[in-house]
Amino acid sequence: MCADVLTQAPAEEQANPLLEGLRSARLPAPCAVVIFGASGDLTQRKLIPALYALAAEGSLPPGFSIVGAARTEMDDERFRSAMRDAVAEHSRVALHDDVWEGFASGLFAASYDLDRDGGLDALKSKLADVDRDRGSAGNRVFYLSVPPSAVVPLAERLHQAGLCRPEGGGFSRVIVEKPFGRDLDTARELTSRLHEFFAEEQIYRIDHYLGKESVQNLLVFRFANGIFEPLWNRQYIDHVQITVAEAIGVEGRGAYYEEAGALRDIVQNHIMQLMAIVGMEPPSNFEAETVRDEKVKLLRAVRPIHPDDALSHTVRGQYGGGWVDGQEAAAYRDEKAVKPGSLRETFVAMKLDVDNWRWAGTPFYLRAGKRLMKRATEIAIQFRRVPHSPFTGHIATPTGALPPDAMEPNLLILRIQPDEGISLRFSAKVPGQAMRIRSVNMDFLYGSSFLKESPEAYERLLLDCMLGDATLFARADEVEQAWRICTAILDGWRAHPPDTSRFPNYEAGTWGPDEARAFMDRDGRSWHRP
Ligand code: BG6
Repeated sequence: MCADVLTQAPAEEQANPLLEGLRSARLPAPCAVVIFGASGDLTQRKLIPALYALAAEGSLPPGFSIVGAARTEMDDERFRSAMRDAVAEHSRVALHDDVWEGFASGLFAASYDLDRDGGLDALKSKLADVDRDRGSAGNRVFYLSVPPSAVVPLAERLHQAGLCRPEGGGFSRVIVEKPFGRDLDTARELTSRLHEFFAEEQIYRIDHYLGKESVQNLLVFRFANGIFEPLWNRQYIDHVQITVAEAIGVEGRGAYYEEAGALRDIVQNHIMQLMAIVGMEPPSNFEAETVRDEKVKLLRAVRPIHPDDALSHTVRGQYGGGWVDGQEAAAYRDEKAVKPGSLRETFVAMKLDVDNWRWAGTPFYLRAGKRLMKRATEIAIQFRRVPHSPFTGHIATPTGALPPDAMEPNLLILRIQPDEGISLRFSAKVPGQAMRIRSVNMDFLYGSSFLKESPEAYERLLLDCMLGDATLFARADEVEQAWRICTAILDGWRAHPPDTSRFPNYEAGTWGPDEARAFMDRDGRSWHRP
């Protein structure tokens, strides 16, 4: 990772020559990005808009090209016109004709066929044209936005076509999306199949959470500040909560969700990545391997939940009908392509212990759910209470004397989204003659501290891949460790399926099943309400 360090005040940012220098320092070598699945949703909603935004801010090299590869025939002009609409609708950066003209001149389409030998010939010859006409020098990034079952066959075809290892010093990288398997065994199998065709250094496993500014800021918050790190351990932290709450339901992806569920969809990847960053030891530098080594060490230290403990250490939920944001929401079982008696979880909560020196005895509570009250991803670090309160029993409160544990413990909230920022809760004296104490918050809000709009996660990640920086991508061993933890839970759940009549067990638009509250009550703790 490029350790750009800027300490100027926000107002100076716009015209800062240092920033200009850093920007050009991050210019990749000329290359072509090949998007497999170019007619898909992700290409239109995220990938092309992200690449366009990079073009608009001058972050792409001269001659940069994109080849949209799809199974269906499409010519360059039709592809350009569809992508123009996509940019107009989805890009963070407004469509400008002059930027678009330059960007569109590097957009090409090619069809491919996985079912026959030579099925990548058309693409290969298009890439040769691009190399010749636009100077991309054989440098390629292949983005596999294809169904999971097509990933290995596609990698194999790329290999057969000689595209995995270009000659002449160029680079060939492949971006792979989740799911990276369904469990530990299938994840290992996927890794070993991919390694037949690509070296690990060529594989970029994308987790869009790592591209979020607020997630990258977690690293900065922890390791660029002297005051928090000494407190960041079992001695001062009572427990950690990581929440990924969504107000949306499965959004037409019922068939996928029936296979995946909340554990595979969110916990195995996004939450495990957040947990690794929150819990890792300080890396000695910000090189990709150093950072990922530390993350994987943390994940390795997580104690797997024994299948017999799966019920006591986790909560599963599924939403019924309800109201979210004033709109009526259908039950999960009424979503398209969902079985009427489905037992698939749309909510999961769990408690994990980390068996290492830093975290022994400080649990991590994780939860993820669809159709919750609101969209909120946050990390709550709850500090231990004061060991002794000199105020106890002496303080007048509106209701009388303070009970011994009335003072709320300090709480640090790292808000990943929305309203990206950080809050620290502490106790303060309420103005007046009496000694009354109340909790207040000290807030940092990205939106008001920085004038610049944050780039989209895909912008950062696509650029990093072109630059060969894998810091914000998951390495095979990280994925494997995350699966080790999740597979133990899946095994336990399989052995103890929920009673069909118990689902749905939470109403859409609430904070999940009552069991999730009871689960925390048992430990004398409670979920933070975002
Ligand atoms: C995806 C999941 O990985 O992340 C979706 O497949 C989920 O189900 C999405 O909605 C959440 O991403 P974000 O950036 O909106 O929090």
